[in-house]
Amino acid sequence: MNIIVTNKLAGRLMEADGEPVSGQQLADEFGISRTAVWKHIKDLQEKGYEISSIKKKGYTLTGIPDSLEAAAIQPLLKTVRYGKTLEYLSSCESTQIIAHQLAQQLVPDGTVVLSEEQTAGRGRMARKWDSAHGKGIWMSIILRPDIPLQRAPQFTLIAAVSVVRAIEEVTGLNPDIKWPNDILLNGKKCTGILTELQSDADGIQALIIGIGLNANQEMEDFSDEVKDIATSLKLKKGSPVSRQELVRSILYYLELYTAIYIDEGFAAIKLMWEGYSTTIGKPVRARMAKETLEGIAESITDEGVLQIRTPDGKLHGIYSADIEMKN
Ligand code: BTN
Repeated sequence: MNIIVTNKLAGRLMEADGEPVSGQQLADEFGISRTAVWKHIKDLQEKGYEISSIKKKGYTLTGIPDSLEAAAIQPLLKTVRYGKTLEYLSSCESTQIIAHQLAQQLVPDGTVVLSEEQTAGRGRMARKWDSAHGKGIWMSIILRPDIPLQRAPQFTLIAAVSVVRAIEEVTGLNPDIKWPNDILLNGKKCTGILTELQSDADGIQALIIGIGLNANQEMEDFSDEVKDIATSLKLKKGSPVSRQELVRSILYYLELYTAIYIDEGFAAIKLMWEGYSTTIGKPVRARMAKETLEGIAESITDEGVLQIRTPDGKLHGIYSADIEMKN
């Protein structure tokens, strides 16, 4: 059984949006026999796709499994490039590791790695990232922007506004962003973003944008270390959210905002980021490796550097820190 045909057939039924498609029509479109169509349908049903078959009308898709495999994501993707090459794993150490390996094999801009679970998910500052099986979105996206190395951090902010837009669109929730890229719901973190880089003397070879989105966890799915500071979209909304729609929407906005950024520069993205930010204009405590600063978070620079004004009137540029909001 050709898996590519099976996946395309699933896509064809998804695009039919609940309308029946006859076996003969599918056979003609795919250039296979009706018996072969039936075998692909059986294969899909075994994978968890709910497909009803009504005599003289055809096959209707009534439900799809909650999986992030290419067959479930790609048919309804609204992007031109992002997600068109998609590596799906049921488990891996970290999608960042796989993405770094793929990036060296010259995979195209917008290649996506998705895994149902990570056994060694990593966060910023060498922290670990809880990645329970099937509950969240553990995704790394390989981008190959033609920009100077020093502009790379701006992509973390592009990714943050893309994720916030996607969460708003798919769930109706209104998250905000804590500098640099924590996405929060009522002050608790529902998404983290980790941007890594491959570069050489010619500049950026690949940006690896890792997104960890807590979608459908219950409180007990979080480890004791993060229980008090983490949340999921399901916990906030009170009902499960569609991981598939979220992935498609994140990729859509990431592609759109990247195009705006390349055409028009960082100003439009910065404006959106500031609109979603809980940090700007507020008193904060910034914990860095060697010191802690307290002051007002005044702005971010075009490089994404946070500017904190301390009580002595000095302005400090913060490149990397844990930010605590002071009330
Ligand atoms: C943070 O510390 O806030 C960033 C967390 C990033 C987690 C994501 S999950 C997908 C990708 N793979 C990883 O190992 N980390 C990132």
